[in-house]
Amino acid sequence: MGRVENMSVILGRIKERGLFQSITRFQYLPVDMEMALEIVNGIGKERNPKFAIDAENRFAYENLIRWVHCDTEMQCLDPETKQVVPGRLKSGIYIAGKTGSGKSWALEIMSAYAMVFNFQIQMGETKRCLYWQNVRTDAICDDYVATGTFEKYKKMSIVGIQDLGAEPSESLYMGNRINVLRQILEYRGDFTDKITLITSNLPMNHKKFTESYGDRVASRLNEMCNYFEIKGKDRRKN
Ligand SMILES: Nc1ncnc2c1ncn2[C@@H]1O[C@H](COP(=O)(O)OP(=O)(O)O)[C@@H](O)[C@H]1O
Ligand SMILES: [Mg+2]
Repeated sequence: MGRVENMSVILGRIKERGLFQSITRFQYLPVDMEMALEIVNGIGKERNPKFAIDAENRFAYENLIRWVHCDTEMQCLDPETKQVVPGRLKSGIYIAGKTGSGKSWALEIMSAYAMVFNFQIQMGETKRCLYWQNVRTDAICDDYVATGTFEKYKKMSIVGIQDLGAEPSESLYMGNRINVLRQILEYRGDFTDKITLITSNLPMNHKKFTESYGDRVASRLNEMCNYFEIKGKDRRKN
């Protein structure tokens, strides 16, 4: 008995200090997929009447919907084989695709969708709305060059990082030349209570990631994110 009490006191202290925190998701089921797609489509058309969910992005949108609803039926792609595999609801999202294929909009629209339904998520001790701010990698680097810090992006519990790989490989502040995104991803990858959503022109297993961010980040991306590809060409051009 004494031993067990000691154990719960110790575990309580660990919890108080925020160690080994994790994510608790709440399910919002059942997902009426037709209705959900119609709402997403409506949000998209509000921004651009040409918005469409079609063969090129349907798999991504359907599974982003399942992800925000916390539906265990969620699927994603294996970044190596491109086979459909079960998704992980406590991991983030990575969307690859060509410029203009609609990756950024997918993150922005799904963030709006999650917010209007007030879906909740618990990250460590904090229960909050499943909503994320989307920031471009070049803006994050500009911020560092101007202020010398990017702490904010390391610490945010959920963040959408737009255009990974498009930022300058080094940013300079007062003689300090650093790879900002490498440091942010390395840091975030060490936490089990943070969610990172990413868009990129590069597929997740591209060698550029190993070259610019190192093996550790490259392999962490896999763990941190569910992988999607949006096909098709530049939607700005039609
Ligand atoms: N699903 C869609 N259907 C039609 N047009 C879209 C769609 N998603 C985005 N667009 C249009 O294409 C443009 C590029 O989308 P964006 O998400 O910025 O592309 P990416 O981030 O992949 O470069 C947007 O300005 C928008 O007008
Ligand atoms: Mg983009």
